[in-house]
Amino acid sequence: MKKNILITGGAGFIGSHVVRLFVNQYPQYHIFNLDALTYAGNLANIRDIESQPNYTFIKGDITDGPLMMDLFRQHSFDGVIHLAAESHVDRSIADPLSFIMTNVVGTANLLNAAKASWNGNFEGKLFYHVSTDEVYGSLHNPEDFFLETTPYDPQSPYSASKAGSDHLVRAYHNTYKMPVVITNCSNNYGPNQFPEKLLPLMINNILKGKPLPVYGKGENVRDWLFVVDHARAIDMVFHKGVIGETYNIGGFNEWKNIDIVHLLCRVMDRKMDKPEGSAASLITYVKDRAGHDLRYAIDANKIMKELGWEPSLQFEEGLEKTIDWYLANAEWMDEITSGAYQQYYDNQYTTR
Ligand code: NAD
Ligand code: TYD
Repeated sequence: MKKNILITGGAGFIGSHVVRLFVNQYPQYHIFNLDALTYAGNLANIRDIESQPNYTFIKGDITDGPLMMDLFRQHSFDGVIHLAAESHVDRSIADPLSFIMTNVVGTANLLNAAKASWNGNFEGKLFYHVSTDEVYGSLHNPEDFFLETTPYDPQSPYSASKAGSDHLVRAYHNTYKMPVVITNCSNNYGPNQFPEKLLPLMINNILKGKPLPVYGKGENVRDWLFVVDHARAIDMVFHKGVIGETYNIGGFNEWKNIDIVHLLCRVMDRKMDKPEGSAASLITYVKDRAGHDLRYAIDANKIMKELGWEPSLQFEEGLEKTIDWYLANAEWMDEITSGAYQQYYDNQYTTR
């Protein structure tokens, strides 16, 4: 039977890879991609699948509760994969309220619309919330890893808003028996990532000969996963995950920020035929991020053992692929940094 699947945030970085995978791999599903096309949403990310018969784009904002109700009434979604969010920690420090609106209120609107539409008949239904490891807070002991049982201790407005939405999703499961699943993933990298995040920002600045701003001493540690491996994990959890469960996703791939920037600089010099040390000469230490979490590191054993997922790419290979993509898609970056892509949407989509 044909299933209607709602994917939110599918014009963003991770969502675009999830939409592509589902549209190509599951002709028996109709994929509805709901996205508000904020500064972070870019339909160019999924241009290759937009004319597939099992795909529909809906421009809409998840903070619009009545619209969410209408969409569920109209399309009777069987499954939801919810990725739409405000996603950048630095922006959340500057403007926390927009994070609370989209991440908390927006998620509540989707849960409410799903609850009303499913009306207690949960056979074949699933609400899948895509979340982050940042809800667990910051690790200080080098031996520690985030487990699914690690208590929540979010430190930034971004992670607090994602923690709030995770709690709401669990509350709908506990209270209304809503069939839900949650995954908490580590830092993603790869094609289509908006250039305010570490790796694409650094790649863009190297290409433009601009300073590479490293926050504080560059000692903070992040655990990096190639975005396509995250999309594969989402596919696996959507189809094989146990209802009510949480799965942590990560690549056992920890890097200090300064080390990853140096590695990136070396690869960029090689690819751009520049003498070694050229890109690294642009490294500039800048004021630290307020409340900067020291270390994130995921223990991904549960999803690996219970669902058989594992990352497909070694980090060096994923980094090469990512750099090659940005080098081959200079126009994508130029359109974003010039704002031209937004003017295009303003003309294309004038609904809500
Ligand atoms: P992104 O910022 O690249 O994309 C977010 C998308 O959501 C954009 O297309 C944007 O237009 C859309 N959106 C924002 N507000 C909206 C609203 N009110 N209504 C409808 N659409 C809206 O983010 P991303 O990095 O792709 O992250 C996707 C999800 O994965 C988020 O929920 C994030 O918390 C989670 N996550 C991200 C990472 C990471 O490293 N990027 C890691 C773990 C989890
Ligand atoms: P980011 O990509 O913003 O992801 P997150 O804060 O969600 O982990 O940043 C990754 C790390 O890189 C984080 O420790 C902050 C640091 N960082 C810099 O040092 N300079 C930068 O310009 C940016 C954007 C991030």
